[in-house]
Amino acid sequence: MPQDAAPDAAEARTQSGGNGSDYLIRHTTLRQLQLLEAIVRLGSFTRAAEELFLTQPTVSMQIKKLSEAIGAPLFRHVGRTIEPTDAGREVHAACRDILSTLSNLEIKLADLKGLKRGRLRLGVLTTAKYVAPEILGAFCRVYPGIDVSLKVTNREHILERLMGHDDDLYVMGQPREANDQIETIPFAPNPLVIVASAEHPLAGERSIPLQALAEESFILRESGSGIRDAVLAHFAAAGLTPRVRMQLGSNEAIKRAIVGGLGIAALSLHSLTLESGGGRLALLDVEGFPIMRRWHLVYSKGRELSLVARTFLNFAIDYEPEIRARLAEAEANFDGMRDRLSARSHST
Ligand code: PGA
Repeated sequence: MPQDAAPDAAEARTQSGGNGSDYLIRHTTLRQLQLLEAIVRLGSFTRAAEELFLTQPTVSMQIKKLSEAIGAPLFRHVGRTIEPTDAGREVHAACRDILSTLSNLEIKLADLKGLKRGRLRLGVLTTAKYVAPEILGAFCRVYPGIDVSLKVTNREHILERLMGHDDDLYVMGQPREANDQIETIPFAPNPLVIVASAEHPLAGERSIPLQALAEESFILRESGSGIRDAVLAHFAAAGLTPRVRMQLGSNEAIKRAIVGGLGIAALSLHSLTLESGGGRLALLDVEGFPIMRRWHLVYSKGRELSLVARTFLNFAIDYEPEIRARLAEAEANFDGMRDRLSARSHST
């Protein structure tokens, strides 16, 4: 039953000499606060006792002690029901803060344990394979107990894997149709550039019209590739079709083919960031290029993101500036090279 506070307890509180919170720390318990929260929420001592698996006399006794420690009654009768007094409301507000802080602490502690071990399955586009291992490497240095699997494939297969919930998280382009089952977070830029051999007559030229490119031998990615779709759409929008000399299913193979003089191709600038091509590849300055695209971090809303995946997601977002810096470096390298090539061709 609700109890009034004993007046002498209030005096003891005032005379305690310590500050108020110290008094409360010594004279109240978390269990009493939990009880008060339940009584206010449920509007009944009996129901609070049931919820917390206690007897009603125990609940009454604990609330009496709490009331004595606070120095004021916490509940009053209104007809056949009870309601908190002003002091009771204040204590209730503080209880909620304290209990919610404790509950967040529990989640954080569980999370810390969870990240000691775990598994991350990542599916990435072929263009993201140039950065994903680096991000994973940095992630695994922080969380060494996590096992990681990385699937690298083209857009069509990534979409299939996304639909089949095969991986926790994807690095891909924008899924085409708006889909409220999918969470899509814009990520690093993924510019599409035209690459030729450094020996190519167009290397070093400025503002090459797309028309001129349509006359070159083109090396195209396989069907199902996002790059392929983007290139074909870009030509089609200008009423052009590239002259496809060969199709290859790998960006690396395409770079070799370009160096081998088999043609020119559209590639993600990311595939050139580690370029040790020794100056054997050149970026062409083509009108309308680079096609500025973005990667996205994507996952199915239908499946709760694991703690590990959520942590990796945030880690990757924080890592984005490094990726941009790498891109800017690659661009500057190729621009420098273009200037040298252009100076050379104009002096001969
Ligand atoms: P792809 O995708 O591997 O499917 O060509 C790459 C991209 O769109 O960046």
